[in-house]
Amino acid sequence: MVEISTSILSVQKEGAIKKFYNLEAAHTNYFHIDVMDGEFVENNTKEIMLEYAETIKQISNTPLDVHLMVKDVQKYIEEYIPLEPNIITFHYEAVKNKEEILELINEIKRNNIRVGLAISPKTKPEEIYDLLPNIHILLVMTVEPGKGGQKLIPETIQKVQNAYDYINKNELEVDIQVDGGINEQTAQIVKEAGANILVAGNSILSSENYAEIIRKLK
Ligand code: DX5
Ligand code: ZN
Repeated sequence: MVEISTSILSVQKEGAIKKFYNLEAAHTNYFHIDVMDGEFVENNTKEIMLEYAETIKQISNTPLDVHLMVKDVQKYIEEYIPLEPNIITFHYEAVKNKEEILELINEIKRNNIRVGLAISPKTKPEEIYDLLPNIHILLVMTVEPGKGGQKLIPETIQKVQNAYDYINKNELEVDIQVDGGINEQTAQIVKEAGANILVAGNSILSSENYAEIIRKLK
Protein backbone atom coordinates (compact mmCIF):
# COMPACT_ATOMS: atom_id res chain seq x y z
CA MET A 1 0.00 0.00 0.00
CA VAL A 2 1.23 3.47 -0.86
CA GLU A 3 0.83 6.24 1.70
CA ILE A 4 0.95 9.99 1.22
CA SER A 5 2.55 12.36 3.69
CA THR A 6 1.69 15.99 2.99
CA SER A 7 4.53 18.44 3.66
CA ILE A 8 3.08 21.59 5.22
CA LEU A 9 6.31 23.54 4.82
CA SER A 10 4.81 26.10 2.45
CA VAL A 11 1.56 26.67 4.40
CA GLN A 12 1.13 30.31 5.43
CA LYS A 13 -0.21 31.13 8.88
CA GLU A 14 -3.31 32.77 7.53
CA GLY A 15 -5.80 30.05 6.69
CA ALA A 16 -3.52 27.29 7.99
CA ILE A 17 -6.13 25.62 10.19
CA LYS A 18 -8.60 25.36 7.34
CA LYS A 19 -5.90 23.78 5.16
CA PHE A 20 -5.12 21.22 7.87
CA TYR A 21 -8.80 20.29 8.13
CA ASN A 22 -9.09 19.97 4.36
CA LEU A 23 -5.98 17.81 4.12
CA GLU A 24 -7.31 15.49 6.79
CA ALA A 25 -10.68 15.30 5.00
CA ALA A 26 -8.78 14.49 1.78
CA HIS A 27 -7.20 11.48 3.57
CA THR A 28 -3.56 12.43 3.71
CA ASN A 29 -1.99 9.55 5.66
CA TYR A 30 0.36 11.87 7.58
CA PHE A 31 1.24 15.50 8.10
CA HIS A 32 4.93 15.86 7.20
CA ILE A 33 6.64 18.37 9.50
CA ASP A 34 9.89 19.76 8.02
CA VAL A 35 12.01 20.93 10.94
CA MET A 36 14.99 23.02 9.78
CA ASP A 37 17.43 24.48 12.28
CA GLY A 38 19.37 27.04 10.21
CA GLU A 39 22.50 24.90 10.78
CA PHE A 40 22.14 21.52 9.11
CA VAL A 41 20.31 23.43 6.39
CA GLU A 42 20.18 27.17 5.83
CA ASN A 43 16.48 27.72 6.43
CA ASN A 44 15.02 27.92 9.88
CA THR A 45 11.52 26.58 10.45
CA LYS A 46 11.82 25.42 14.03
CA GLU A 47 9.27 27.79 15.62
CA ILE A 48 6.62 27.62 12.91
CA MET A 49 6.80 23.83 12.53
CA LEU A 50 6.46 23.27 16.26
CA GLU A 51 3.48 25.60 16.30
CA TYR A 52 1.86 23.78 13.35
CA ALA A 53 2.54 20.36 14.85
CA GLU A 54 0.95 21.43 18.14
CA THR A 55 -2.08 22.80 16.33
CA ILE A 56 -2.51 19.62 14.27
CA LYS A 57 -2.16 17.48 17.38
CA GLN A 58 -5.08 19.38 18.90
CA ILE A 59 -7.45 19.35 15.96
CA SER A 60 -6.67 16.16 14.06
CA ASN A 61 -6.20 12.42 14.43
CA THR A 62 -3.98 12.17 11.36
CA PRO A 63 -0.50 11.09 12.46
CA LEU A 64 2.53 13.36 12.43
CA ASP A 65 5.59 12.45 10.37
CA VAL A 66 8.46 14.57 11.71
CA HIS A 67 11.44 15.11 9.39
CA LEU A 68 14.35 16.56 11.35
CA MET A 69 16.81 18.47 9.17
CA VAL A 70 18.86 19.49 12.19
CA LYS A 71 22.33 19.08 13.64
CA ASP A 72 21.38 18.58 17.26
CA VAL A 73 19.11 15.57 16.70
CA GLN A 74 18.74 14.69 20.39
CA LYS A 75 17.36 18.14 21.27
CA TYR A 76 14.63 17.97 18.63
CA ILE A 77 13.69 14.36 19.40
CA GLU A 78 12.98 15.52 22.94
CA GLU A 79 11.01 18.49 21.67
CA TYR A 80 8.72 16.32 19.51
CA ILE A 81 8.23 13.27 21.78
CA PRO A 82 5.41 14.96 23.77
CA LEU A 83 3.46 15.37 20.50
CA GLU A 84 3.42 11.58 20.06
CA PRO A 85 4.30 11.54 16.36
CA ASN A 86 3.97 8.31 14.41
CA ILE A 87 7.40 8.81 12.80
CA ILE A 88 10.56 10.74 13.69
CA THR A 89 13.18 10.79 10.94
CA PHE A 90 16.67 12.23 11.30
CA HIS A 91 19.56 12.57 8.88
CA TYR A 92 22.48 10.15 8.76
CA GLU A 93 24.67 13.07 7.62
CA ALA A 94 23.91 15.00 10.80
CA VAL A 95 25.40 12.31 13.04
CA LYS A 96 27.53 9.82 11.03
CA ASN A 97 28.82 8.01 14.15
CA LYS A 98 27.03 4.65 14.18
CA GLU A 99 27.03 4.23 17.95
CA GLU A 100 25.46 7.62 18.39
CA ILE A 101 22.92 6.84 15.66
CA LEU A 102 21.92 3.62 17.45
CA GLU A 103 21.41 5.52 20.70
CA LEU A 104 19.13 8.01 18.96
CA ILE A 105 17.21 5.18 17.27
CA ASN A 106 16.67 3.51 20.63
CA GLU A 107 15.50 6.69 22.28
CA ILE A 108 12.84 7.15 19.59
CA LYS A 109 11.77 3.50 19.83
CA ARG A 110 11.51 3.61 23.62
CA ASN A 111 8.78 6.20 23.12
CA ASN A 112 6.80 3.95 20.76
CA ILE A 113 7.57 6.13 17.78
CA ARG A 114 8.64 4.67 14.44
CA VAL A 115 12.19 5.56 13.40
CA GLY A 116 13.18 6.93 10.03
CA LEU A 117 16.73 7.47 8.84
CA ALA A 118 17.20 9.94 5.99
CA ILE A 119 19.96 10.04 3.40
CA SER A 120 20.68 13.10 1.26
CA PRO A 121 21.16 12.73 -2.52
CA LYS A 122 24.96 12.43 -2.32
CA THR A 123 24.96 9.66 0.31
CA LYS A 124 25.05 6.08 -0.98
CA PRO A 125 22.43 3.78 0.56
CA GLU A 126 25.15 1.13 1.07
CA GLU A 127 26.58 3.32 3.85
CA ILE A 128 23.56 2.67 6.04
CA TYR A 129 22.61 -0.90 5.05
CA ASP A 130 23.94 -2.20 8.38
CA LEU A 131 21.43 0.04 10.18
CA LEU A 132 18.36 -1.13 8.25
CA PRO A 133 17.44 -3.92 10.73
CA ASN A 134 17.18 -1.22 13.43
CA ILE A 135 14.88 1.24 11.67
CA HIS A 136 11.33 1.28 10.32
CA ILE A 137 11.69 3.72 7.45
CA LEU A 138 14.48 4.67 5.08
CA LEU A 139 13.96 8.18 3.72
CA VAL A 140 15.70 8.57 0.37
CA MET A 141 15.79 12.32 -0.26
CA THR A 142 14.95 13.00 -3.89
CA VAL A 143 16.12 16.64 -3.61
CA GLU A 144 18.78 18.35 -1.49
CA PRO A 145 17.17 18.95 1.90
CA GLY A 146 16.44 22.56 2.79
CA LYS A 147 13.58 23.88 0.72
CA GLY A 148 10.33 22.93 -0.98
CA GLY A 149 9.40 23.27 -4.64
CA GLN A 150 12.57 21.72 -6.14
CA LYS A 151 12.83 19.26 -9.02
CA LEU A 152 13.45 15.59 -8.28
CA ILE A 153 17.09 14.58 -8.92
CA PRO A 154 16.87 11.66 -11.41
CA GLU A 155 19.93 9.84 -9.99
CA THR A 156 18.08 9.26 -6.73
CA ILE A 157 15.67 6.81 -8.39
CA GLN A 158 18.33 4.14 -8.74
CA LYS A 159 19.10 4.54 -5.03
CA VAL A 160 15.48 3.76 -4.21
CA GLN A 161 15.63 0.70 -6.46
CA ASN A 162 18.89 -0.54 -4.90
CA ALA A 163 17.61 -0.07 -1.36
CA TYR A 164 14.36 -1.83 -2.26
CA ASP A 165 16.22 -4.80 -3.73
CA TYR A 166 18.48 -5.06 -0.69
CA ILE A 167 15.54 -4.86 1.75
CA ASN A 168 13.67 -7.58 -0.13
CA LYS A 169 16.65 -9.86 -0.54
CA ASN A 170 17.36 -9.68 3.18
CA GLU A 171 13.70 -10.02 4.14
CA LEU A 172 13.75 -6.81 6.16
CA GLU A 173 10.64 -4.86 7.04
CA VAL A 174 11.60 -1.34 6.15
CA ASP A 175 9.39 1.16 4.37
CA ILE A 176 10.96 3.41 1.76
CA GLN A 177 9.94 7.05 1.89
CA VAL A 178 10.84 9.61 -0.77
CA ASP A 179 10.75 13.36 -0.30
CA GLY A 180 11.17 16.24 -2.74
CA GLY A 181 9.77 17.02 -6.17
CA ILE A 182 7.02 14.40 -6.02
CA ASN A 183 4.14 15.05 -8.43
CA GLU A 184 1.86 12.83 -10.53
CA GLN A 185 4.64 11.99 -13.00
CA THR A 186 7.51 11.39 -10.58
CA ALA A 187 5.21 9.50 -8.16
CA GLN A 188 4.75 6.80 -10.76
CA ILE A 189 8.51 6.41 -11.22
CA VAL A 190 9.44 6.26 -7.52
CA LYS A 191 6.64 3.78 -6.80
CA GLU A 192 7.94 1.51 -9.54
CA ALA A 193 11.40 1.74 -7.96
CA GLY A 194 9.98 0.58 -4.61
CA ALA A 195 8.97 3.65 -2.58
CA ASN A 196 5.80 3.22 -0.53
CA ILE A 197 5.56 6.46 1.47
CA LEU A 198 5.51 9.54 -0.73
CA VAL A 199 6.05 13.00 0.73
CA ALA A 200 4.55 15.78 -1.34
CA GLY A 201 4.26 19.47 -0.59
CA ASN A 202 3.74 21.79 -3.51
CA SER A 203 2.00 19.32 -5.80
CA ILE A 204 -0.73 18.83 -3.18
CA LEU A 205 -0.96 22.34 -1.75
CA SER A 206 -1.08 24.04 -5.14
CA SER A 207 -3.92 21.80 -6.24
CA GLU A 208 -7.57 22.91 -6.19
CA ASN A 209 -8.73 19.49 -5.08
CA TYR A 210 -6.63 17.85 -2.35
CA ALA A 211 -8.59 14.58 -2.37
CA GLU A 212 -8.12 14.12 -6.08
CA ILE A 213 -4.37 14.81 -6.16
CA ILE A 214 -3.80 12.58 -3.10
CA ARG A 215 -5.76 9.78 -4.80
CA LYS A 216 -3.76 10.23 -7.99
CA LEU A 217 -0.41 10.21 -6.15
CA LYS A 218 -1.39 6.98 -4.38
C1 DX5 B 1 12.79 19.45 1.54
C2 DX5 B 1 11.69 18.95 2.45
C3 DX5 B 1 10.51 18.43 1.72
C4 DX5 B 1 9.81 19.43 0.85
C5 DX5 B 1 8.83 18.77 -0.07
O1 DX5 B 1 13.87 19.82 2.29
O2 DX5 B 1 12.18 17.91 3.26
O3 DX5 B 1 9.61 17.80 2.61
O4 DX5 B 1 9.16 20.41 1.58
O5 DX5 B 1 8.25 19.74 -0.86
P1 DX5 B 1 7.96 19.52 -2.40
O6 DX5 B 1 7.01 18.37 -2.50
O7 DX5 B 1 7.38 20.79 -2.80
O8 DX5 B 1 9.26 19.22 -3.07
ZN1 ZN C 1 10.73 16.63 4.35
